[in-house]
Amino acid sequence: MLVLGLAGSPRRGGNSETLLDEALAGAKEAGATVEKVVLSTRSFSPCISCGECEKTGICVIDDDMQDIHKLISDCDAMVFASPIYFYSVSAWAKAAIDRSQALWSRKYILKDPRFTADKKGVFIGVGATKGSKLFDGTLLTMKYYFDAAGFYPAGQLLVRGVDEKGQILNHPDHLAAAKALGSGLL
Ligand SMILES: Cc1cc2nc3c(=O)[nH]c(=O)nc-3n(C[C@H](O)[C@H](O)[C@H](O)COP(=O)(O)O)c2cc1C
Repeated sequence: MLVLGLAGSPRRGGNSETLLDEALAGAKEAGATVEKVVLSTRSFSPCISCGECEKTGICVIDDDMQDIHKLISDCDAMVFASPIYFYSVSAWAKAAIDRSQALWSRKYILKDPRFTADKKGVFIGVGATKGSKLFDGTLLTMKYYFDAAGFYPAGQLLVRGVDEKGQILNHPDHLAAAKALGSGLL
């Protein structure tokens, strides 16, 4: 079983990536093979809305997202982690989400049975503030992203009030919850 982790924060070793690492460690301990992609280390463009993927299901932009799309198709479950930026995911994460329009086209326009998988997807979000609506927009985005990419929302870890890099290490409860989220994918 392959568990794919997508890290949406450009801050290496930051709070959401640390939680992602815990989740992947939990999945690995439970017997999965894990692979992590830190989106900000890859070279890819946002969606250009050319519409070509509606004909083929393949994105015409020849960049690192091609490999990531293959991983998304090949994996058995996904952990998607992002900091909250302006009440949404980071721009890195959103660009990757928008590029999944090609995956949406495979499923909903081409109705290709190879891409109607319903795999477990879990989301980890971290924000500095504590408002009750902090994750509202993001959770809608993630719901429709997971659906387009062949996943269903199988769990989430939403962390409020964590801002400075490394601050998450002061929260062993969140670290443990992340690990359980990962092991629960198996
Ligand atoms: C560009 C930017 C926008 C942010 N917007 C929000 C926000 O809307 N709400 C919030 O609670 N925190 C916001 N934050 C704070 C981050 O969510 C917080 O620092 C988080 O712990 C970062 O996670 P990371 O270490 O994984 O990058 C923002 C931070 C940045 C850099």
